[in-house]
Amino acid sequence: MLLLASTYLFGQGAARPFSPLVNDKGDIAFPKDFPNGFEHIGTVAVAGNGGVTDTHATYARPADAAYYRANGVFPDGAVLVKDVQGVIGSPHTTGNAFWASERKTWFLMIKDSVGRFPDNPLWGDGWGWSQYDPKDSSKQIAKSYKADCLQCHVPAKATDWVYVYAYPGLGEGIRKFTPAAARAATARADAAPAQAAPGNPAMIAAGKSAFEETCGGCHTVEAGKNNTGPSLFGLIGRKAGTQATYSYSPAMKDAAVVWSRDTLPKFLADPKGFIPGNRMGRFFPGVDSSEKREALAAYLESVK
Ligand code: HEC
Ligand code: HEC
Repeated sequence: MLLLASTYLFGQGAARPFSPLVNDKGDIAFPKDFPNGFEHIGTVAVAGNGGVTDTHATYARPADAAYYRANGVFPDGAVLVKDVQGVIGSPHTTGNAFWASERKTWFLMIKDSVGRFPDNPLWGDGWGWSQYDPKDSSKQIAKSYKADCLQCHVPAKATDWVYVYAYPGLGEGIRKFTPAAARAATARADAAPAQAAPGNPAMIAAGKSAFEETCGGCHTVEAGKNNTGPSLFGLIGRKAGTQATYSYSPAMKDAAVVWSRDTLPKFLADPKGFIPGNRMGRFFPGVDSSEKREALAAYLESVK
């Protein structure tokens, strides 16, 4: 009986395959019923000039995620799947919104605490690594984890090559791995001064007529309706140069400015100087009266 048990536990792989996804050569198959049997543990959105370009949603099997939450490490055989999708977006009542529209690829990592396939180029550094054709998940397309994966995962080496801080499904413990740059951004957001009080109706009305007079030739306040300039619907709170349907100058796209009751009047006082090289600065000298600038900002804040 003892002998049988130890054969079962430590004997031929055939008696107890390491993982149903892995054959004896170390080929890694994509889980057939995905996402059945998996849970979503977190999503990373990748930013481009015009907003979000990709979403990367990562999944784990519930038992593997629970093991990580309890122990802070992945169990042997744990499977992580990252689903990469391209996105499209448009102005919504929530602001500029983006959603996944087209699969680009799947990545998969499977934990190997033993070093099972030393001669297989897709195995090493504690994991099996694979990638799949977006049109046909039965086609594994990675050739070598060292060439295709490892370099890009070096920043996460200390957490077993996994960007664990991006996956809330792995528990509260991941927060201590949040990169310093992300902590600084959060601290800035916390410390940001409160927005100006909502404009009063008289101020908003004055801003509306100033808008029609001075800006209406080039801008509308209808969602998605661009003219010479972009639609200014939902402007306050969004980053400069991110209205998805408008083609901005590189200067506006790259400007590290979030439109607010504070930044908009500064821009309107000196469109050319506040964001050098932007296109509006070429056509429009600005608004002289500070009262008008404040009123315009209060009005645009109300248009959302
Ligand atoms: C261009 C750089 C890059 C390359 C190449 C790359 N990865 Fe990643 N990978 C990342 C980054 C960054 C993350 C975490 C954030 C994200 O999704 O953008 C990640 C996340 C993952 C995840 C989710 C779990 C985790 O580790 O955070 C898996 C699974 C994964 N990658 C597998 C692979 C495999 C397998 C390959 C090679 C076939 C590969 N990756 C190649 C950069 C890369
Ligand atoms: C002569 C045309 C013109 C006039 C008049 C004009 N703008 Fe613009 N505006 C533009 C153009 C063009 C852009 C795009 C700039 C770029 O991409 O560099 C722009 C961009 C902007 C942006 C940046 C929007 C974003 O999505 O980041 C704001 C804010 C703005 N204008 C506000 C105003 C206001 C308020 C007025 C009136 C006081 C005004 N503009 C008058 C042409 C104009």
